[in-house]
Amino acid sequence: MSNPPPAKAASMDPGPGSASAGRGVEDRPGSDGIGRRGFLSTASAVTACAVLAGDARAAIAATISQPTPLPTTPPPGSPSPGELAIRLRVNKVEHTLNLDPRVTLLDALRENLGLPGTKKGCDHGQCGACTVLVDGRRIYSCLTLAVMHEGLEVTTIEGLGRGDALHPLQTAFIEHDALQCGYCTPGQIMSAAGLLREPCGADDEAVRRQLSGNLCRCGAYPNIVAAVQSVRSSAGTAP
Ligand code: FES
Ligand code: FES
Repeated sequence: MSNPPPAKAASMDPGPGSASAGRGVEDRPGSDGIGRRGFLSTASAVTACAVLAGDARAAIAATISQPTPLPTTPPPGSPSPGELAIRLRVNKVEHTLNLDPRVTLLDALRENLGLPGTKKGCDHGQCGACTVLVDGRRIYSCLTLAVMHEGLEVTTIEGLGRGDALHPLQTAFIEHDALQCGYCTPGQIMSAAGLLREPCGADDEAVRRQLSGNLCRCGAYPNIVAAVQSVRSSAGTAP
């Protein structure tokens, strides 16, 4: 009977196949379980945190110590943030308005220039109540932006006559009783003023067609056409 080989488990030296066999002396855990390399990594991380914390403290201190700049007061009359200074020439008078560039010409006339003669009906380009002339051409002022008409000549119902003298169309509308509630009337008259400068057939049907973009809920169409034709005939453009 032979003696059993000595037990390896009793040895403190790890064998060549053990997990720690490739580590140097500095990798071996000490009595507290942290190797030298682990200790150095931890120390570096701690140092980096300390530096970052120091930077943050410095940044906060710099922020606190810097005086907060006082808000600068814009010169009186200059546009607020989001506004533009817009020059509008309305009824032969120059105006400079500070407007949000999204403001329609209709709103600029009514709300900013105090010219309520131009009416807001549908605000969607369907009724013609907001018709004005821009450089002599009739347009729906609810469908265009005020900023698009800088330097152009805008004419509203307030500027159609000459001083206290009514425009012939205004006189004709009164004489032909071409209005009932009157809400559509400024738009009808401005549209007719544009029509007078456009090619248009001589008969009533041509006038009706040319004014078809201006609705009248009161149904005053026959009298409106009669009023327009009376002005055209005095101007020699209708029978
Ligand atoms: S308000 Fe402009 S078309 Fe109706
Ligand atoms: S007169 Fe009333 S809508 Fe034309």
